[in-house]
Amino acid sequence: MRKPIVAGNWKMHLTLAEASNLVQQLKGSCESDAVEVAVCPPFTALSTVGQLLKGSRIGLGAQDLFWEAQGAFTGEVSPAMLADAGCRYVIIGHSERRTHFGETDAMVQRKLAAAMANGLTPIVCIGETLAERDGGKTFETLTKQLSGAFASCEGWDCGKIIVAYEPVWAIGTGRNATPEQAQEAHAFIRQWIGKRCGAEAAEAMRIQYGGSVNAGNAAILLQQPDVDGALVGGASLKADAFGTIVKAAAASQTKVVNRS
Ligand code: 13P
Repeated sequence: MRKPIVAGNWKMHLTLAEASNLVQQLKGSCESDAVEVAVCPPFTALSTVGQLLKGSRIGLGAQDLFWEAQGAFTGEVSPAMLADAGCRYVIIGHSERRTHFGETDAMVQRKLAAAMANGLTPIVCIGETLAERDGGKTFETLTKQLSGAFASCEGWDCGKIIVAYEPVWAIGTGRNATPEQAQEAHAFIRQWIGKRCGAEAAEAMRIQYGGSVNAGNAAILLQQPDVDGALVGGASLKADAFGTIVKAAAASQTKVVNRS
């Protein structure tokens, strides 16, 4: 049985005061034994949020990392620095990084390798654009992104990696994938992981859905057999909405997973 994981990607939002205020609201209301919960603030707030989360069950994650250990890489942050700030998770290959900052599958692969080497739990984001979906290329895109990210996965405990399926057309648009579209993509991803990393890793791996998840649609998405949690953008900035999504994930624990 996979434990669902709900993570809030705060993106480039919240000052230290705002971040502290939100964390205080999340503590208690978003803690659950049945669900792993994490928040991913901007780099500037990691340490402050990490301090506030001490003793809570909510984990801390970063939104990106660089693969080198140290050196003359202005503006970058190393895996060890993230661990030092209290991070357990790191988002890798978000579509916004791919689109706005030219991140390639090869870079995603290096970042994933660096996270694995440093004991961070990676949340690897993949997903097709609207043109790719309309052109019938969804699985082709997912295959290309997965092949790139997992190019050097030999020797890894791949079941510990989290993959987030985030269709680009659903991010920040208010237009979420239907439960059927999400399930179809998640099942495809799990099948691909099974072939590449083995059946055990595929069974253990949590695959999150991301893209306009909110308090209203979380339950039905999380009820899908291969949807093991959510990566939440906008709704993670509101304590009540995020709390409702965490509760929907907890309730999804009772879903019947029928693998044929
Ligand atoms: P929204 O929930 O705002 O659509 O963002 C999703 C996302 O990009 C999470 O990483």
